Amino acid sequence: MAEALYNRLYRRLEPVRWSLADIRFDAIDKAKVSQETLGFVKVNCLLELSSLYATRMFLRDFREDADFCQFMSIWYFEEMRHYLVLCEYLKQFGMEPQPEELPAYDAELKEAPWPATLAMHWCGEVRLGGWYLRWASLVDQEDPVLAGIFRTIAEDEYRHAQCYEDFMHRALETRPELLADFLNTAKWMLVNPRSDKHPTTFAEGSADGLAVSDHIAGYQAFLARLQDTATEEEEARMERRILKTLSRLSGRELQSRADLVRLTREKQRSAAAPAAAPAADPSDSADLPSAR
Ligand SMILES: [Fe+2]
Ligand SMILES: [Fe+2]
Repeated sequence: MAEALYNRLYRRLEPVRWSLADIRFDAIDKAKVSQETLGFVKVNCLLELSSLYATRMFLRDFREDADFCQFMSIWYFEEMRHYLVLCEYLKQFGMEPQPEELPAYDAELKEAPWPATLAMHWCGEVRLGGWYLRWASLVDQEDPVLAGIFRTIAEDEYRHAQCYEDFMHRALETRPELLADFLNTAKWMLVNPRSDKHPTTFAEGSADGLAVSDHIAGYQAFLARLQDTATEEEEARMERRILKTLSRLSGRELQSRADLVRLTREKQRSAAAPAAAPAADPSDSADLPSAR
């Protein structure tokens, strides 16, 4: 019996974990930090709080998967620490969110099939890693402390993406037909990104039809900065990374979004009509990568 992923991921993440005490809040040159940047950090901080709503959703929708639910304890801890470190940063300026204002941000996420949720959050973590690196370079001159915080969080987000990928890989070992869902969700995340496609901006996923971001005052200014500073190169880098992983998971080399669309249609067709499907192409489900 293979070792639970939680056990493996715990050991993998423990030695690279950073500490709040590592952050040099006392080195911030407050006079150099603009109100615009602080407003951006405040929204960013509240978006990190959304891991609370996501964790409730994960524990509910993945209840059959004890291993994944155990992993949630790591993910939730690390995401809440992103919230905390940004709170502590804002506190230096007297702008941290107050406990009594937090209930207004709460969101109830709708029940959804877990394979799509898993793939959506995997893509979301990859995208977020890229965003944080971009934000770090944008504030490097303004405040190296904030730039360092952003880089530290970026590394966490990329590690989370790797964890989600591991769970997708493990799911395919026993249920290769789930590849159609993973491909379809990744395709959705890549097409028309509008520079803000992330689980926190997904209104259809919330019970009240409002995205997590819709509850946050100042989100429109945050979004404008996100879109104004986005580059095609960053999106292309993310797409390459997603396609590389999906190539590993599918055993089929995907070089473009068109390749992804083609393979998605193919897998959806065979998932919809398994009895009528022709003899499977061995390259479709074979040669899945071994666990790392
Ligand atoms: Fe985060
Ligand atoms: Fe994350």
